Amino acid sequence: MANWKAGILGTGSALPDQVLTNADFERMVDTSDEWIVTRTGIRERRVAKPEEATSDYALLAGQRALERAAVDPADLDLILCATVTPDMMFPSTASLVQDRIGAKRAGAMDLSAACTGFLYAVSAAAAFVESGQCRRVLVVAADLLSRITDYTDRKTCVLFGDGAGAVVVGEVPADHGFQAFDLGSDGSGGHYLYLPAGGSRQPASEHSVGGRMHFLKMEGQETFKFAVKAMAASAERVLATAGWGRDDIDLLVPHQANIRIIEAARKRFDLPAEKVAVTIDKYGNTSASSIPIALDEAVRGGRVGPGDRVVMVGFGGGLTWGAAAVRL
Ligand code: UT7
Repeated sequence: MANWKAGILGTGSALPDQVLTNADFERMVDTSDEWIVTRTGIRERRVAKPEEATSDYALLAGQRALERAAVDPADLDLILCATVTPDMMFPSTASLVQDRIGAKRAGAMDLSAACTGFLYAVSAAAAFVESGQCRRVLVVAADLLSRITDYTDRKTCVLFGDGAGAVVVGEVPADHGFQAFDLGSDGSGGHYLYLPAGGSRQPASEHSVGGRMHFLKMEGQETFKFAVKAMAASAERVLATAGWGRDDIDLLVPHQANIRIIEAARKRFDLPAEKVAVTIDKYGNTSASSIPIALDEAVRGGRVGPGDRVVMVGFGGGLTWGAAAVRL
């Protein structure tokens, strides 16, 4: 057996400065701070400036992860960017980052798995590294959901925020690194969470713009039920594959969609609050970037460090789900 595995060499994140509070939403739609806090746990979220784009935050998060990993951008072999809000349909946001970050030797591609995108991307990165095809891969998850949020729809607009998170994946000693992954999809539930227009099925037209079809649509309750089940099942499977028990978890990093979904996962694994990363109160649901942002904050805040066992778990449009067990 090889004496190394793929693992995380460094983490980074980037968030816009501009804050949108629940009080701001009380002025925009028929809602209240009390409803938003009790139903979702969100108090505020960040939104990018109109002139900014996803790659601006992907770049910053990527630079910070490279700095912490002490990896030169020129030594990257591949950049994977998980996003459902790319700067444009193509070129990929990963290619825009590749140029601006100075990763002269790296290949680049985007990957689309909605809020689960980061877990799909790190899993792919680990496979690239363990196959020997790449030595160092930059994984960036970045989304500006404000760009596809309908700020007249109170059922969705209060939930989402903008941000980016990144990790550098490379070789680590075999008792560290990624110990297991679990990825899954149930496309029959795709209509619970989707963006109707702007693709080949319904290209942009006056009709699609007038019908507000370039904004995200969601069946909240159906997504909620799916999320609670999918997160528990996926985390159970990844623990079993890694050969870890619940007591081995030093930190659970769940996708940040709703504090009630996070609480359900915490109770299911019987974890104390200090073993669960929560950022939803500050940033809302930042889609693919929520897990790497929470992981980066935990690392920078000293909540986890070398040798600690982290389980990341998420769900999202597709419908998709995923989990990863990693020893830092
Ligand atoms: O990243 C993955 C994406 N999304 C998710 O994970 C979301 C999963 N779902 C959820 O988090 C929850 O379902 C929501 C937070 C979206 C909604 O919470 P809920 O407890 O499921 O509420 P509901 O949809 O059952 O709505 C209850 C009531 C409704 O009013 P009526 O019909 O009972 O009179 C809604 O119209 O709350 C109303 N409502 C609101 N009221 C004030 C919905 N949104 C709002 C709002 N402010 N922002």
